[in-house]
Amino acid sequence: MLITRHAEARALLADPRYVPPPVRQDGEPGTLAWLRSQVSRFSHGEVHAERRRLLTACLATLDADALRSAAGSLTLERAGDWRDVPTEVLGAALGFADTDRLAQVVRTAATGYLSGVDSAEADAAVTELTRLAGGATPESIARITLLLQAHAATEDLIATALTHATSDDPAPADPDTTVLSAAASGGEVDGLVYETLRHDPPVKVTRRVDRQTGAEVVVDLVAANRDPDVFGDPGRFDTSRGETPHLTFGAGVRPCPASRHGLALAVGVLEALLGTVDE
Ligand code: HEM
Repeated sequence: MLITRHAEARALLADPRYVPPPVRQDGEPGTLAWLRSQVSRFSHGEVHAERRRLLTACLATLDADALRSAAGSLTLERAGDWRDVPTEVLGAALGFADTDRLAQVVRTAATGYLSGVDSAEADAAVTELTRLAGGATPESIARITLLLQAHAATEDLIATALTHATSDDPAPADPDTTVLSAAASGGEVDGLVYETLRHDPPVKVTRRVDRQTGAEVVVDLVAANRDPDVFGDPGRFDTSRGETPHLTFGAGVRPCPASRHGLALAVGVLEALLGTVDE
């Protein structure tokens, strides 16, 4: 079943009858398959509730304003070379020491984390990540989960927002490396990010399985975010909309617990790239 309407998507995501598709539970310790069997994202019921409690406790120790400012400073320090900045800033805030190496292993492990596609490289990265986190304790796994969940979604959000920010430019800059010359006010960056989230969600679909029938359900977050019953002129990219009730961070039983943190990291990088913070 495919869900495309906003109201139906919200109702389904709030219904405990629908759970994430099961993942392998027989992976060797230290492998990607093992990690996926240990995390909140792919569990449900009491196990999910306990793992999610650890995640939110860990996130509560992080200051979103400090993440934003650190992401801006590091982006400027690197002359606009912003890839890995969100992961390194988040890693430092989570207490990791060698954030340069951390970013390399997070990038490798993240490739298969959501898809479940195994590789020897991803397994080796998970083993190293577990060592860097201090072992396979539930607290360490929570910190690893935060890094892996954050990585691709935050970078995708920044890259897409940059594409929109430069789309009127006759010679758009390379969104990977360039400090853009066009200045935008802080409010404009917020508006740009809010509308990018609605119009181009980094996570396009999320899947559930009906516990009673075993049927798979795909929730199309792009379509739900453009539901004409909820958003006027939904196909138009309009940075003046401000915050909207988009479903980009999920909803219901297991929404993203770090939407504020993700926004802070993305806005910090974008403010630096778009020239709205002082060097
Ligand atoms: C900025 C862009 C981000 C987007 C668009 C995003 C989106 C999402 C979505 C849609 C889900 C729910 C998936 C589902 O319902 O199946 C989710 C879950 C999650 N996100 Fe995010 N996320 C972002 C950033 C982050 C960051 C920065 C972190 C960590 C600091 C994070 C940590 C998590 C975790 C741990 C979960 C799993 C929650 C659970 O198992 O209950 N996310 N995210």
